[in-house]
Amino acid sequence: MVHGCLPRPLRYSAVTNTSRTASGRPRVFSGIQPSGSSHLGNYLGALKNWHLLQDDHDAVYCIVDLHALTLPKEPGEVATGTLEMARMMLASGIDPERSIFFVQSHVPAHAELGWLMQTVTAYGELNRMTQFKDKSSRDSGFVSAALFTYPALQAADILLYDTDVVPVGDDQRQHLEISRDIAIRFNSRYGDTFVVPEHHIPAAGARVMDLQHPENKMSKSVDSPLGTIDMRDTPKDIEKKFKKAVTDNDGEVRFDPQEKPGISNLLDILAATTNGDPAELANNYEQYGPLKADTAAAVLAVVEPIQEKLAAISDDDLADALAIGAGKAAEKAEEVLDRAYDAVGLMRRRS
Ligand code: TRP
Repeated sequence: MVHGCLPRPLRYSAVTNTSRTASGRPRVFSGIQPSGSSHLGNYLGALKNWHLLQDDHDAVYCIVDLHALTLPKEPGEVATGTLEMARMMLASGIDPERSIFFVQSHVPAHAELGWLMQTVTAYGELNRMTQFKDKSSRDSGFVSAALFTYPALQAADILLYDTDVVPVGDDQRQHLEISRDIAIRFNSRYGDTFVVPEHHIPAAGARVMDLQHPENKMSKSVDSPLGTIDMRDTPKDIEKKFKKAVTDNDGEVRFDPQEKPGISNLLDILAATTNGDPAELANNYEQYGPLKADTAAAVLAVVEPIQEKLAAISDDDLADALAIGAGKAAEKAEEVLDRAYDAVGLMRRRS
C-alpha cells in the first residue's frame, strides 16, 4: 500500500544537521562526467570550487562513469576518460586524505539505489527534463532508456551520502530539484530515510562560455577547438586562443552578458582566475587588447602549476587513491542503502 499524503517529520533536518558526519561539518557531494580531457570551464566552474570547499566541509567527489554510458561510447573510452579526469582532480587540489574521491562504478550501491529511485520517480517528471530533451534530439542516433532515467541515478548518488549541499552549475538546477522531490517522496511513502539536499551554485566562473561562440557554454563535446581552452594546452595556444576570442564592435569594456557576451566572458574568466569582480575589473580597461592579454596571463598562472602536478602523478598513485576512496565511499553508501531497503521493507538476506 502506498501512503503518500502527509509527509512525516524528517528524522534529519532538511537543511544542515551536521551531526551526521564524524567531523560535524556539512556534507558536500558532487559528481563530474569523465569526459576525457578537461577544459577551463570544468576547472573554473567545478574543480576549483570543490578544492576550496574541502576546507570547511566533509566532501565526497565522484567521477560518474555510469552516467557517461547514457550516451553511446566505444569500449574502453570511459575508462580512459575516468583516469584522465581523476588525474585532473588530484592536480586541481582535491585531497584524497581529506575528501572521499572515487569512481561511481566502484561502489555498486549507486546502481542499486539508482534502481530504487526509479521506483519513486514519475515518468511524467522525467519527461519534463530539458537535458533529456536536448540530448535526445541533438543527434538522431540511439537514445537509451538510461538517458531518460539518468536523474534517478543522480538522485541516488547524492542521497547515498546524507548530503547537505550539492555544488553544481546552474544547468543542473532541474536535476537537483528532482533529486529533492524524489527524496521527499520516498521519505513520505516509507518514513524518513534521506536527507533532502540543497543546491549551491558557485559564484564567479560558474559558467565559462566558448571563446568563439560566447553564447554557448565552453564544452568538450562541441567541436570548437579555438573556443575551448584545454587544461593541457601549451602557453602559446592559450595566448593565441585569447587573442582570437570573439568580441564585438562597440569598443567599450563593460560587464554586460546580454549585450556583450564575448567581453563579459573574458571579464568573468579574469575574475574567476584572480578572485576579482567582473564589473569592477571592467573599469581597469579601455581597450579589448589589454583585457585579452591580461586574461590569458591570469589563465596561464592558474594552468601552469596544474600542468606540472599532472605530470607528477603516477598511474599507481592514482589507482591507489581511487581504491582507498571507493572503500570509504562504500562504507557510507552501504549504510544508507541498507536504511533504504529496510524502509521499503524488502525481505533481507540473512547474514
Ligand atoms: N549530471 C551531472 C552533470 O552532468 C553529473 C552528476 C551525476 C552529478 N551525478 C551527480 C552532479 C550528483 C552532482 C551530484 O554535470
